[in-house]
Amino acid sequence: MPSTHPLALHDTASSRLVQALRGHRPEVTPVWFMRQAGRSLPEYRALRATGGSMLDACLDPALASEITMQPVRRHKVDAAVFFSDIVVPLKLVGLDVEIVAGRGPVFAEPVRTAAQIADVVRIDPALVTERGAEVAEAVARTTAMLAEESAVRGEPLPLIGFAGAPFTLAAYLVEGGPSKDHLGARSLIHSDPAAWSDLTAWLAEVTGRFLALQVQAGASAGQLFDSWAGAIAPADYRRAVLPASAKALEPVRALDLPGAPEGVPLIHFGVGTGEILADMASIGVDALGVDYRVPLDVAVDRLGARGSEVTLQGNLDPALLFAPAAARKAAVHAALEAGLAARAHVFNLGHGVPMDTDPDVLTDLVSTVHDWRAPGAA
Ligand code: CP3
Repeated sequence: MPSTHPLALHDTASSRLVQALRGHRPEVTPVWFMRQAGRSLPEYRALRATGGSMLDACLDPALASEITMQPVRRHKVDAAVFFSDIVVPLKLVGLDVEIVAGRGPVFAEPVRTAAQIADVVRIDPALVTERGAEVAEAVARTTAMLAEESAVRGEPLPLIGFAGAPFTLAAYLVEGGPSKDHLGARSLIHSDPAAWSDLTAWLAEVTGRFLALQVQAGASAGQLFDSWAGAIAPADYRRAVLPASAKALEPVRALDLPGAPEGVPLIHFGVGTGEILADMASIGVDALGVDYRVPLDVAVDRLGARGSEVTLQGNLDPALLFAPAAARKAAVHAALEAGLAARAHVFNLGHGVPMDTDPDVLTDLVSTVHDWRAPGAA
């Protein structure tokens, strides 16, 4: 653990990303991409071809830190996002999970019945912290590499840590693997509300500790991924999902970061969340990730009174990565202009980078964002 957190030690507090997340609009809009590390990069495919599973790679500090740095060096994005996966903390506590290429997380045993849930929630969430040495070391190595890269770039470069929200984790755990409509988890909410509440409260502690581990080890921001939250009816979301998401943020809020008493800014993201944006903003986060279905200025309207209290992140449709350059540039400019309605804006895609994306298109997109200036700005 660093004796001083990178927010102070490497001044990532003054980075474009952290500034924007905290509501100050830097002259240049910061940009990073969900899934910026991964199969769209030939250097990633080359490293992964040396063997080992995806989850082994996540728990190998040298490999995970190098993979985290690859898109930073190549695309000149304003932040690194830690190479890991939302199911890593579930592996750390001892669940039998693998990531199957082309599919996603698969559990040897689904956790579905009241008895299976009772067994799982008996596992002590503190195991995430106790067994998290490789995660902490990977983060520490990454922040050291980011400090070197910052010196070259002349800009402080923060690391974004992340965790899966309890609902999105439950969507995999209850089903035993990926599903199209997350019917297993959505049914459990109604068929056994008590078991659902026990399961999501446990997941909140497990995933919250995973995020806190990364922040304590040096991440300068955190993102809670509730990728599949848009699958739930808004009333069910408020009642049966949001409380566990709020609880997942408690461990990171409880940290006392050396040299950075203000803590790290937090982002809350989901896909298809147009109906629940204001709810997602209600748990005291600094920023909201918006997918491409809702233009950012419309998102600000939907947020009502909270519209001036959060930074927005997003939201280019990843489909534009496969469109002619002129169409893409126009869409990037439209998103940047719509983002002016928010107190500040962090540019991103509406969801993750598709694996067959041409990496040069992403590099070019970063310079399009960096070259843009708000009308009337100096
Ligand atoms: O660059 C980054 O964004 C950081 C790393 C990251 C990964 N997964 C690496 C990864 C992050 C932030 C995640 C989060 C994650 N994992 C989410 C939430 C984000 C989202 O996309 O909505 C979800 C739902 C998962 C679960 C998961 N893991 C899926 C659905 C898949 C894809 C399976 C496939 O092969 O298409 C994974 C695997 C995964 N996670 C890969 C990477 C780079 C691909 C693994 C490989 O290289 O084979």
